[in-house]
Amino acid sequence: MLESLDSLQKEAMESLDRVAGLEELPVWYREWLGRKGRVTDLSRGLGGLSPEERPQAGQRINQIKQGLEQAFEAHQQAIENRALEASLGSEALDITLPGRPLAPGHLHLTTQTLRRLRQIFAEMGFQVFETPEVETDEMNFEMLNIPPYHPARDMWDTFWVNDQVVLRTHTSPGQIRCMRQSKGQPIRVILPGKCYRYEAITPRSEHQFFQMEGLVVGHSIRMTDLIGTIRDFIRKMYGESRKLRIRGSYFPFTEPSIEVDMDCMLCRGKGCRVCKHTGWLEVGGAGMVHPVVLQNGGYDPEEWSGFAFGMGVERPAMLHHRIEDIRFFYGNDLRFLRQF
Ligand code: PHE
Repeated sequence: MLESLDSLQKEAMESLDRVAGLEELPVWYREWLGRKGRVTDLSRGLGGLSPEERPQAGQRINQIKQGLEQAFEAHQQAIENRALEASLGSEALDITLPGRPLAPGHLHLTTQTLRRLRQIFAEMGFQVFETPEVETDEMNFEMLNIPPYHPARDMWDTFWVNDQVVLRTHTSPGQIRCMRQSKGQPIRVILPGKCYRYEAITPRSEHQFFQMEGLVVGHSIRMTDLIGTIRDFIRKMYGESRKLRIRGSYFPFTEPSIEVDMDCMLCRGKGCRVCKHTGWLEVGGAGMVHPVVLQNGGYDPEEWSGFAFGMGVERPAMLHHRIEDIRFFYGNDLRFLRQF
């Protein structure tokens, strides 16, 4: 019995050696190791052996089975490798060519700047409140104390969608929306967003740009709170040694109104091209929320007071990176965008 096992194993191995193609593999497997294969048959024949012979023969059969399984797998692998090599050779695929690098994207410079601004205000306890880019005349103007035909409308050259709908010319309409939603609770928010103006496009003005509005409403909010907030912001954004200059100004929705400048960080106030030789750079407009505006937002001006400010977003990025033309921001020239 044991001798015949040896010769059977030999026969099986020789037959495996002759298997040359992938499609012949299952045929060989069925013949030898399959459920009705010749090696499996051997196990069934064990019953006919004497009890002394049985264990030894059983062990030997298992050995043969395992050996053949391993040989089969190795042979299959070898055939597959040969097939792969042959196809690589015939299809002339040069696997040594360097791959094409995937260019990972990154955040637009404006987004980076918005995030920086947001972070600074978040540290001061401001929440973010976003409002629509397409606004009604009512929100963009009337509720902000700018009735139709008011000469102040000339301050904002407007894209009209129809008689009553505009692309917002500033983020200030968000003040009304925020107050109406806050329903008599104190407010401390920033309102970042895109604005549009029907303006001639020059190196300093685009017809689409971002603003960041701020609004604080509470029970005894004063001008000094406004100035302190702006001063903290400017020092965090531009450095501890920045100086502020406050000028009286006019906006229909704030009273009193101011405009805030800081000393030019490039020439340290001496005067250069960037600050147009004045030594000062504009930061933005601000003021105490006008009583009419508080009222329109649902806050009783006898009980509540507040301040608001609005500033450009591209401007800080331009200062920081010495970008001389705002048109680069949305011109989508990758050579520009990739630099930041
Ligand atoms: N909305 C004003 C502008 O676009 C800026 C501003 C905001 C002024 C808030 C005062 C208070 O010019």
